[in-house]
Amino acid sequence: MRGAQIGLVLMLASAVVSIKLLNRQPEWIKIPCHRKDPKVNECLKNTFQGMFPFMARGIPEVNIPRFEPLFIEKIGITKGHGAVTLAGNFNHLYAHGPSNTTTIYTSLDEKAGKLDIGLHIPFIRTESQYDLKGNILLLPLVGVGDAKLYLKNVTTEVFMKVTFPTIEGEEVMKVEHMKVEFKLSHCRVHLDNLFNGNKVLGHTVNTFLNKNSLEILDELNENIGDSLAFVFLKVMNDAFGRIPTKYWLAA
Ligand SMILES: *[C@@H]1O[C@H](CO)[C@@H](O)[C@H](O)[C@H]1NC(C)=O
Ligand SMILES: *[C@@H]1O[C@H](CO)[C@@H](O)[C@H](O)[C@H]1NC(C)=O
Repeated sequence: MRGAQIGLVLMLASAVVSIKLLNRQPEWIKIPCHRKDPKVNECLKNTFQGMFPFMARGIPEVNIPRFEPLFIEKIGITKGHGAVTLAGNFNHLYAHGPSNTTTIYTSLDEKAGKLDIGLHIPFIRTESQYDLKGNILLLPLVGVGDAKLYLKNVTTEVFMKVTFPTIEGEEVMKVEHMKVEFKLSHCRVHLDNLFNGNKVLGHTVNTFLNKNSLEILDELNENIGDSLAFVFLKVMNDAFGRIPTKYWLAA
């Protein structure tokens, strides 16, 4: 009974939200690419690259949030096995630097319903709150407080499963599934107030985290990737669900 009620409420809620599709070529996409163009990937790469300066300020008409700084409500971590076990969150995270992203490549395979994008971000600086508990290699880690991260030379690959449904008479793109992988060459981290503010333990663990940051991130790569995919799948669908493909990927 309860389930049926919730189902009905969700149906009513989605019925009143009608999507307002973009109805003209936007200034942030100069010209559409063409599916049959043998250089369609080169063209799409330029399209995405051209969008970044606009994304930095946000594109409200298609719900793209401001990317400079980029606000992420929550990055959850749940890892129960291996050399790093960790559970908790980074909350209210502000990331500075994403607007300097360059697009390395795009790869569209319409038949297979795949769109992959490679991105390079020179540096990302974040401020957030954190609550974490676990074991990092052999050291215990527990704390709640402010967290600062500095990441350099971040290469990200986004692998998407996409479909092209028709909404209100227009074809749009829908991302059904997303996987995010990343590599980076330098990382600095500071977690404030570890162990209830115990300065000696906090200092020990922060020093250890910084010495082993790349190895630790490697352990957490899949976990963080999943958490980022959850955030960016919504961003992509909010945006590309409102942009008829004819404005960016024409016949
Ligand atoms: C983008 O990169 C330039 C050059 O490295 C740098 O001066 C600028 O601060 C960066 N912008 C942001 C918002 O990080
Ligand atoms: C940046 O990352 C790429 C890919 O991981 C790597 O090939 C390159 O050597 C790195 N550059 C620097 C300056 O660390």
